Amino acid sequence: MAEMKVTPWEVTGEVDYDKLRRDFGLDRIDQPLLDRMKKHTGELHYLLRRGIFYAHRDLGWLLDEYEKGNKFFLYTGRGPSGNTHLGHLIPWTFTKWLQDKFKTELWFQITDDEKFLFKDGMSLEDSHSYAIENALDIIALGFDPKRTKIFIDTDYSKTMYPHAVRVAKHITFSTAKAVFGFTNETNIGSIFYTSMQAVPAFLPSVLAKRNIPCLIPLAVDQDPHFRVARDVMPKLGYYKPAIMHSKFMPGLGPGGKMSASDPNSTIYTTDTPDVVKAKIQRAFTGQQPTRELQKKLGGNPDICSICQFYRFFFEQDDKKLEKIFESERDGSLLAGEHKADLTERANKFLAEHQKKREKARSQLDKFLLRD
Ligand code: TYM
Repeated sequence: MAEMKVTPWEVTGEVDYDKLRRDFGLDRIDQPLLDRMKKHTGELHYLLRRGIFYAHRDLGWLLDEYEKGNKFFLYTGRGPSGNTHLGHLIPWTFTKWLQDKFKTELWFQITDDEKFLFKDGMSLEDSHSYAIENALDIIALGFDPKRTKIFIDTDYSKTMYPHAVRVAKHITFSTAKAVFGFTNETNIGSIFYTSMQAVPAFLPSVLAKRNIPCLIPLAVDQDPHFRVARDVMPKLGYYKPAIMHSKFMPGLGPGGKMSASDPNSTIYTTDTPDVVKAKIQRAFTGQQPTRELQKKLGGNPDICSICQFYRFFFEQDDKKLEKIFESERDGSLLAGEHKADLTERANKFLAEHQKKREKARSQLDKFLLRD
């Protein structure tokens, strides 16, 4: 396996989540913190119970403020480089749960500027049209229209830009190089970009003319942006945002993050039933080379991509998940049946989601902020 590399634009190698947490300087979401969350939410989301949301910054502080009556808002985002995949839905469905439980506002940034700047061959027009398509997926998840604002950077830049330059003035090129690995060949838009991603963490405070705590759910690859932003925000007079970090939903291959860089092992929300079937048919299960050996020796659910699809997304009932894992371990569930079950489950979810996605087209105006 290649050496672990995790940046906001690239994840390679086998991710050692504890090492990453230490390298990034994050705290573990431990039992006392889970108990504290549960006091407010009544139950724990399956992503918390399973340690998939596993790290944080300042979550204890955020709850202190909440308990004092100082409510927070949520902020998360999407870089529209293509269609939405199931991995993206991990932080978003968790964000929806937080919105429902804490009755908070959500600010959802879609960074067409970022994807234009960072991706070779991506035009600003294409990135903007993916932004609209991605917004449909976000709306389809059922966010509260009264409490949710979605904004595409180039459509909302008149509001954001003055604050982005305030951030940018406090970030040197040498910091950006050290954190993001930029070189002298990096275009200057990319170097500036992190300032745009910082803005929504305090924009609601600017607009409300008072300091409001912010909580950002994301997968851990996006943390470096906020490591930089958190140093700057007190200098502008705002709270540092709190953050909750998720592990990566794997793809259908052996190991690795679900990512658009490997489309065959990625399930997109727009995939047709046949495409889903074909992709799952080729999935890595880690099972023994023959049926006989699998029945005798069993498999390992921790490396089986089908089992991991259930753990991250498709089976939220812990007892049912354990049953699936056990039947992988004891060799009673063979790859063919395992794949057929998942295909059925995935296509059922996608059929529903795709219906909601189409309905969302007429709701875009209710959600989108434009200058
Ligand atoms: P993007 O579009 O790469 O990813 C959107 C969100 O999905 C998370 N993610 C995953 N989570 C679980 N499993 C996976 N396999 C997986 N792949 C991606 C990402 O961590 C992210 O939370 N620059 C950002 C857009 C952005 C943003 C934000 C993200 C703007 N403001 C604030 C989080 C918070 C981006 O390109 O995300």
